Parts: sequence; structure tokens; C-alpha cells
Amino acid sequence: MKDTTKTATLTLNGQSYELPVLSGTAGPDVIDIRKLYTQAGVFTYDPGFTSTASCDSTITYIDGEKGELLHRGYPIDQLAEKSHYLEVCYLLLYGDLPTAAELEDFESRVTKHTMVHEQMQYFYRGFRRDAHPMAIMVGVVGAMSAFYHDSTDINDPWQREVASIRMIAKMPTIAAWAYKYHIGQPFVYPRNDLDYASNFLRMCFAVPAEDYEVNPILARAMDRIFTLHADHEQNASTSTVRLASSSGANPFACIAAGIACLWGPAHGGANQACLEMLKEIGTPDRIPEFIARAKDKNDPFRLMGFGHRVYKNFDPRAKVMKQSADEVLDLLGIDDNPILQVAKELEKQALEDPYFAEKKLFPNVDFYSGIILEAMGFPTSMFTPIFAVSRTVGWISQWKEQQSDPAHKIGRPRQLYLGATRRDYVDIENR
Ligand code: SDX
Repeated sequence: MKDTTKTATLTLNGQSYELPVLSGTAGPDVIDIRKLYTQAGVFTYDPGFTSTASCDSTITYIDGEKGELLHRGYPIDQLAEKSHYLEVCYLLLYGDLPTAAELEDFESRVTKHTMVHEQMQYFYRGFRRDAHPMAIMVGVVGAMSAFYHDSTDINDPWQREVASIRMIAKMPTIAAWAYKYHIGQPFVYPRNDLDYASNFLRMCFAVPAEDYEVNPILARAMDRIFTLHADHEQNASTSTVRLASSSGANPFACIAAGIACLWGPAHGGANQACLEMLKEIGTPDRIPEFIARAKDKNDPFRLMGFGHRVYKNFDPRAKVMKQSADEVLDLLGIDDNPILQVAKELEKQALEDPYFAEKKLFPNVDFYSGIILEAMGFPTSMFTPIFAVSRTVGWISQWKEQQSDPAHKIGRPRQLYLGATRRDYVDIENR
């Protein structure tokens, strides 16, 4: 519960204003400025929201200084080691780890919703074969509201629940089909006898011409990648989903908006950009050249997979991902992967460089994930769609939390106006 015993005093134009200070269960206090404009006639100014709490939440907590990430209080490294993606989905959606019976029921409900309406296949055929799979996913997910009318009434808790299960269940099918369409292979349907990660791998890599056995090592690595990307507090795409849903838009449209935002290279698109950067570097001897470019103010180049708005220490997900990269490549017998060697040497040299130390730039979740995904057989264009599949549970959990709050309002930021003041229209002959 929020502790509201403290206040902050703002003095402006000779006037003092008492603003409530709210404390949560962890993390910084917040100054409640909801009445500031009506009391003092001023806005606060925070482009990029670096110092702004946009909502209450009980789902995910990040301590950027310590490099800590908790989902409903459970540390991400413990969940990555001991849990699995659908159990983490249950935790994010409902707030606690499930009993064995609750987990079995949840997994069964998700499994039974993995197929998509057969007519949705026609959406794919409208795209060029070389369309980026993220472009296809934005379109197909947005179109889901045209097929699943019975779970678009956001004021009905049961329909919110059905929409949540449908989104989590169908995203792997939609993403796998975007990949199959991209490479010109037939769609592969989900199977109810496979777990979530194995189903996704089979839908991506199986062909009708032969049987496909899922490699359990890859399935475990895939599930861990899903777990590591599941939710991350109020990041750009989650904030996009919350803002879209604040207008009352249906959940499928809100998730499509989140996918669109995630695609950017500063956000979820960084995993694709990072592997492309590592390949461009190619050999350890070229690393100094790229580090110099990243430090050059006149060069827009940045080290992809490095830095983070919140983490000013190691991203705990990057640590798990790095360990997983070693394990997967070793188990696959790819022990001399040159790209992994470049990544490790780049990380070493960057962390020894004062520029990165001063700016507290460390590897983030996207730095090692691409190496694992490429070793699993995915092209770089599928890296961000895989991020989107995983993050759907985070988007949906945050969406449900917001929709369940009767006090939530439409999001409507203001601005600092620097444009022309009032002036009269000038007829064209007088210009
Ligand atoms: C994700 O928000 C989340 O939670 C996101 C995410 C999630 O799970 O949802 O964690 C997933 O998006 C991870 C981030 C993936 N993006 C990248 O790896 C792209 C490369 N990183 C940067 O673009 C950048 O670090 C950001 C966008 C991630 C964060 O940028 P900020 O917080 O806005 O910081 P900034 O741009 O103000 O940079 C601060 C300084 C600047 O130098 P100065 O102007 O102060 O001199 O650090 C520099 C930047 O130039 N800097 C970098 C750098 N990142 C920041 N310099 C070189 N290489 C980099 N990668």
C-alpha cells in the first residue's frame, strides 16, 4: 500500500505548494504532482520520462544501480534457473507462483488456444516475401480484433482473461508463420503434445517432407530466452501498450502498438542490430575502431547491446544470457564461434574503457541473445519477433493491471510550447 505521510514543498513565484510524497514497497519515493497544474499553473518537464513514474504497479521491480530485476519479488536469475516461461507467465499475470494443479490448468488453457483462425493465413499472403517479420506481426496481431470479437470488451474481466490467454498462446504461431512466409515454406500447425518453446521451434523449423525432433537443449535455451524477456517495468513498448489501452482500445490493437514500438533499434530491435554490428566488426583486431566510433560525439554510431535507461550496472539478464550462450554453443559443439569471441573481447575492452565506465554503460539483454538465436538457426530478422513473443505476457499483464484499476484515466501528456504565438492569417497576395 502507498505510504502518504511525507510531503515536498515547492516554492514558485513567492508561493509555496505542499506536494504529497508517496513511498512504495521498494525503489524511490515519488512526488505526487497530479494537482500541480491546478494549484500552481505550471507543468513539469521530463522528455523521455527519465524521472517520471507513470503508474503504480506490483508486477516488476528494477534496481538499476544494483542491477536487480524482480518479477512479483522473485529474482530473474532464480526464475531463469528454476522456473520456465509459462510458469513465469502465470506469476506475472496472477501475482504468485502456481501450485502444480494451477500450473497444469494454465498450461492446458494456453495450449488449447495456440491455433489461429484459419482465415488469418490470408493476411500473410498480402505481404511481399521479403517483408520484415515484425511488419507482418504488427499487421496480423492488429487484425486479431477482427477475428476475436468475443474477447474485446475490456470492461468484462472474463473477456480480459480470455484475450490474455489468446495473446500468449497465439503469438508463437503468428511469429513462426511470419518466418515461414518470409522463407517461402508452408505453415506448420502447433501441436498440443509439445511444450511452449518446443512448439515454437517445431513451427519454425519443421517441414512437411520429414519428421522433426525438437532438440531438448535448444528447447531449454529457447524457453530461457522467453523467460528473460518476459517483462521489464515501464519500458518504451510497455508504456506504449498502457497509453494505447488508456483510451479503451481493444487488447489486440494495444499489443500491435507495443510490437511497433519494440521494433526500434534503441529498444527490442537492438538484438538484430547487435549481431549485425558484431558481424561487421568481424575480428577482435577491429574492436578498437568501433569503440572509438561509439565514443565519437560526431559519429551517431553506438555499441548495440550496450547501455540502458535504467541499468547503471550489469543487466542481470545479460549475465544469464552470456552463461546460456556458452552452454548452448558448447552443447552444440560450436566452441570456436568467432562472433562469440568478438562479443566477449568487445565486452572486455569496453568495460575497461573510461568512457563506458563513466557513463555506466554495460551489456544489456540484447548483447548476447543474438548469438544464441543465430546458433539455434534463426536469421537476424527473427530476433525481435522472438522478443515480441516473450514480451507479450509483460504487455498483457501490465494492460490487465491498468484495466483493473477503476481510477485509471486516459493518458494525455502536455508540452512546453516554443512555437509561434497568435498571429492573423495573411492572404497569399500579401505574403
Ligand atoms: C532494451 O527500457 C527497457 O527496459 C528496455 C529493455 C526491455 O527489456 O524492455 O531493457 C530492452 O531496449 C535494451 C536496450 C537495447 N538498446 C540498445 O542496446 C541500443 C544501444 N543503447 C543505446 O541506444 C542507449 O544506451 C539506450 C537507448 C539503451 C539508453 O539510452 P538513454 O538512457 O537515453 O541514455 P542516453 O542516450 O542519454 O546516453 C547517455 C550517454 C550519452 O552520452 P552523452 O550525451 O551523455 O555524452 O551515454 C551514451 C550517450 O551517447 N551512450 C552510448 C551508448 N548508450 C548510451 N554511447 C555508446 N554506445 C552506447 N550503446
